[in-house]
Amino acid sequence: MFSLKNFSKIHSFASCVPSIQMSNKDFESIVETTDQWIVERTGIKNRYMCTPDEDSLTLAVKTTRETIARSGLDVSQISGIIVGTSSSRHVFPGLGCMLLGELGIKGFAFDLQAACSGFVYASHIGRQFIENNSAEHILLLGVDVISRVLDWNDRKTCILFGDGAGSAILSASEHPSILYSMIGAEPDQELSLTVSSPWANKHGHHKIQMDGPKVFKRAVGCLSSCVTTLLEKTGLPPSAIDIVIPHQANGRILQAVAERTPIPLNKYYQCLERYGNTSAASIPLAYVDAEKEGLIQVGMNVMTIAFGGGMTFGGSVFNVLS
Ligand code: COA
Repeated sequence: MFSLKNFSKIHSFASCVPSIQMSNKDFESIVETTDQWIVERTGIKNRYMCTPDEDSLTLAVKTTRETIARSGLDVSQISGIIVGTSSSRHVFPGLGCMLLGELGIKGFAFDLQAACSGFVYASHIGRQFIENNSAEHILLLGVDVISRVLDWNDRKTCILFGDGAGSAILSASEHPSILYSMIGAEPDQELSLTVSSPWANKHGHHKIQMDGPKVFKRAVGCLSSCVTTLLEKTGLPPSAIDIVIPHQANGRILQAVAERTPIPLNKYYQCLERYGNTSAASIPLAYVDAEKEGLIQVGMNVMTIAFGGGMTFGGSVFNVLS
């Protein structure tokens, strides 16, 4: 049906954050920490968290409505929704199915759980539908509300995360836009980054637990190999990548990745000081801010790289089409 359009393009990014703003100073009265420690060890200064009335669905509705408006598409043209999230309001129905009703989309919908790599996973999987002619437009969403699973007594984790949502449309295109995308996973046998599900056995723990230094090393290794693979597979020289939109977890992780790979740190867009680690929302949230700052323009080559619990990782290189 769409045989002249064998490529995928990603466009119409939008994002939103919830209402409660929390600075590093606010944490000084909750756990034994300082603004200076958090800034020096992570680069984070601020983050947003949901009020009791907000959750992943309220954020999802807001950002996806904006994405659809920006795309100029009618909802009847959208074939389905793919959501990267670990924070669906219900275990079932999934967030994607809830959104179908909210937005009036008639199509498929599913949630996928790849932690902080959720948006990159969603866009890579969405490409398969577009490029085998099963869909022409797919709504992509990354949303997480990690504040609900924070241990407010654990200074090693509670200072790192914020809530947020980001969305985009993946469309069939006559011209190549996504030049390459990839997803991958490795076991986390030591359970260095976990939250238990409602079905866990008695050993489950329902707040986030993390061995920070171990996760740091795994993140640097996985993200560095994403950069190397993306350059190899696209055949582009590092100078042809105009901007890197990385998962925003820790500025020191990004510095270490840049030191190990040929793309310099000044090409890595960073907004983690404003939002903290927003998990599956972090890449679209960063993309929107970079676009607003005029750092992303038509014709540019954008690289995305993500890493998250699982361990999951992935990335893409795409040329921005109008
Ligand atoms: N404020 C003050 N001190 C803190 C602190 C805080 N918020 N958190 C930890 N510390 C202390 C530790 O207790 C430890 O003290 P000790 O030496 O007296 O035991 C010291 O700082 C060093 O702790 P460590 O965990 O080794 O620090 P670090 O330099 O590795 O930084 C993280 C901790 C969590 C910031 C860092 O490991 C990290 O970012 N890891 C990756 C996390 C991540 O991105 N996860 C999501 C992946 S998607």
